[in-house]
Amino acid sequence: MRVLFIGDIFAGAGRKILAECLPLIFETEKPDFVVANAENAAGGKGLTGKTADEIFASGVDVITLGDHAWDRREIFEIIDDPRILRPLNLPEGNPGRGMGMYTKGDKKLCVAVLMGRTFIEKPMDCPFRAAAKQKFEEAALIDFHAEATSEKIAMKWFLAGRVSAVLGTHTHIPTDDAVIEKGTAYITDCGMTGPYDSVIGVDKNIIIKRFLTGMSARFEAAYGDVQFHGVLVDIEGKKAVGIRKIIYKEADLQK
Ligand SMILES: [Fe+2]
Ligand SMILES: [Fe+2]
Repeated sequence: MRVLFIGDIFAGAGRKILAECLPLIFETEKPDFVVANAENAAGGKGLTGKTADEIFASGVDVITLGDHAWDRREIFEIIDDPRILRPLNLPEGNPGRGMGMYTKGDKKLCVAVLMGRTFIEKPMDCPFRAAAKQKFEEAALIDFHAEATSEKIAMKWFLAGRVSAVLGTHTHIPTDDAVIEKGTAYITDCGMTGPYDSVIGVDKNIIIKRFLTGMSARFEAAYGDVQFHGVLVDIEGKKAVGIRKIIYKEADLQK
């Protein structure tokens, strides 16, 4: 079984390159499941019904979210959709679910999203204990949405041999450390599907000014150097047997 996992889809530019790349990837790589983090899909912050529909129409089976899950109030109209997952370790009382089981023909995949606590100032339960409570009886993919590389690598060792993949999101910066540890595919961060002529998706001049002056300004999504970033994970039984980075640049697609 082959799973395509896509890093944080950022705003309209990210959704557009997603729609352009998926037909090519379906043709060449034939993934059985497509999972995408879409916490930044609506203008860079959160997810709405319209943006979710667009992403599902592109061929994504399951959407994961992160710290931006509740940024847009339209999310509450669609959060009961079983194809949409918010972090599993949000405190009790949060709507939605953090884990789901998905079936296609004879193939089954469990997907869960956990959020790290280091440098993310949101109330949440311990992601390690939240993971430890689960019985992963089928192939399982974990989106670990976290800021600190240390926390992500700790989760790799913690879940190695227990799940099929621990794939990092949230920093929007791809890392070059894809590896398989005891049958668990791992990468610290898949990178963003969105505009790289930016500071993590946002207009770079706005962010530079903010660092220089300390004054907050309205964020605007950037639009230059759009890239698609994901990983393909091959799974046999519950064990990962391959992980490979997949990148498309807007400039290459136009050739
Ligand atoms: Fe993000
Ligand atoms: Fe995030």
